Amino acid sequence: MVRYSEELIDDIKNSNDIVDIVSQYVTLKRSGRNFFGLCPFHKEKTPSFSVSPDKQIFHCFGCGAGGNVIHFISKIENVDFKESLEILAERAGITLPTLENSFDEKKQILKEKIYEINKEVALHYHELLYKPISKPAQEYVKKRKLDNKTLKDYYIGYAPINFNLYGFLKEKGFNDEEILASDLVIKKGNTYIDRFKNRLIFPIQDVRNRFIAFGGRVLDNSLPKYINSPENLVYSKARNLYGLNIAKNSKLEKIIIVEGYMDVISLHQRGIENVVASCGTALTEAQGRLLRKYAEKVIISYDSDSAGQAATLRGLEILNNLGCDIRILQMEGAKDPDEYVIKYGNGRFNNLVENAISLIEFKVKVLKKDLDLENVNDKVKFLNEVAKLMSTIDNKIEQEIYIDKISKDYNISREAIYAQINKLIYSKNQGQKILEKKPINKENKKEDNIPTNLLKRENMIIALLLDGKVEVYNKIKKILSPEDFKRVENKEIVQKLYEEFEKGNSNIDNILEIFNENEKIIGILTGIMAEDNEIKDDQKAIEDLVKNYKKERLLARKKEIIKILESKEKSIEETKLLEKELQNLIINLTQLK
Ligand code: CTP
Ligand code: MN
Repeated sequence: MVRYSEELIDDIKNSNDIVDIVSQYVTLKRSGRNFFGLCPFHKEKTPSFSVSPDKQIFHCFGCGAGGNVIHFISKIENVDFKESLEILAERAGITLPTLENSFDEKKQILKEKIYEINKEVALHYHELLYKPISKPAQEYVKKRKLDNKTLKDYYIGYAPINFNLYGFLKEKGFNDEEILASDLVIKKGNTYIDRFKNRLIFPIQDVRNRFIAFGGRVLDNSLPKYINSPENLVYSKARNLYGLNIAKNSKLEKIIIVEGYMDVISLHQRGIENVVASCGTALTEAQGRLLRKYAEKVIISYDSDSAGQAATLRGLEILNNLGCDIRILQMEGAKDPDEYVIKYGNGRFNNLVENAISLIEFKVKVLKKDLDLENVNDKVKFLNEVAKLMSTIDNKIEQEIYIDKISKDYNISREAIYAQINKLIYSKNQGQKILEKKPINKENKKEDNIPTNLLKRENMIIALLLDGKVEVYNKIKKILSPEDFKRVENKEIVQKLYEEFEKGNSNIDNILEIFNENEKIIGILTGIMAEDNEIKDDQKAIEDLVKNYKKERLLARKKEIIKILESKEKSIEETKLLEKELQNLIINLTQLK
């Protein structure tokens, strides 16, 4: 990553007040020292998104997102840290120097080279498609009914069996480092092999039309059906959507998201242009945010097989949390949109789009799939689950509409559904649980089975360290090493904090930036900062923490010793030693109380 100097980053941060910036996206209300609003990163009805003007951070207690003003822009505009800095610098009228760091400058140049290579290769494979050498590919695209305009729009190409891509790129003036960094050529011993051989090529472009990667399909039924460029300096699969560069030029009241290259292309050829593909994997959050930037309404149209349906469910959660209006397209008689639109035409596909069902309806449908409503047990189960689902709908009118629809669709009386909902609400504990919002993020749940007290204590220590007092650090480091922390992220945080203290850098204003690559850690840190762990008496807090840590460690050792003592294979000396240790341990433990 390109690094601007810390001074410059500070300057940019200081010139962009976080409350000002966030207010442009979120309506904030002051409450005490902080501001609160509805989180823009997940769907919620009551505000759990906080902004602290003192600390210049934001933190959502609902989904765990957090960071400083740079992270906020990066997350909400879906840009990387550097681009976010650039946006904020521009806002503040700060001119950024050209790349300072020679290492990053080199990396930047390499990146540009890879884009160049990708473009050359995409255009060349595309040209080759029309040459006699590409006969098999020409027959294949004919079979797939791709017309010439489509081939051109998507730069579809062909990588022949015998092609020397290395030689081709060398001739264009690229050097070995650049060629290998593009991942289009693989070096084995002293030979350079083309990654794609005898495959139909789908170049992948980002929203800025840069060629970032390639997918290659076999021309027959052999496996693997597709191979794709690996992730590299210019390609991050999770951050891109195939076809968005083209879809974004169409009227984007809604975007249709499909699984495959061929689905995008085939629909586009038939006039349905607002389509992108997640390329076989479940949708990621970054892709979701990217989608939401272009359209609020998203239609999921994954394959009708079970893998496609499972991916649909996962994608739904992500999009729902991002506040998208989601519909799920229901398709019968074809395995994917490509096959459907070829078989039935675009008119009928458009009908499917119009009739795509809502999240709730989809969930009910999924529920119903494994149940036989003629069977009493199954029917009870179904009613119960439907009631649970219905009670998650806050809007009464909406709820009524759904209940009506379900009662008709599944031939169940409305009264039965209402009765079940009421039962849920009034059977106290359970009802409470159901009415509570589901945690959006694992962050909300008890972390990896680490007891809450322990987590709290770990957070306290980190809060103490963040305060930046060297005396406090000296005391803590004597007793605790980063490894002693149970939550993995905390180990990493403490490790970094220790390093900074050792470097004599106790004022860790840029701690959040140290973890730029790790959203989760940033969220944890802002969580700790936002918590206001008001620690009045450092000394006492440390003593307390240390005592508890020691105690836990002793107890664990005690358990271990007892286990060994109870087992058979050990010498007499060993037993004696262990018994001695156990005695001391118990004395230590009583002293700690
Ligand atoms: N995919 C992949 N690697 C595979 C299989 C699939 O990367 N071995 C990705 C591709 O992006 C593909 C998408 O998953 O487009 C969907 O896979 P699939 O439905 O199997 O392929 P289709 O796109 O339908 O391709 P085709 O119609 O040519 O079979
Ligand atoms: Mn297909």
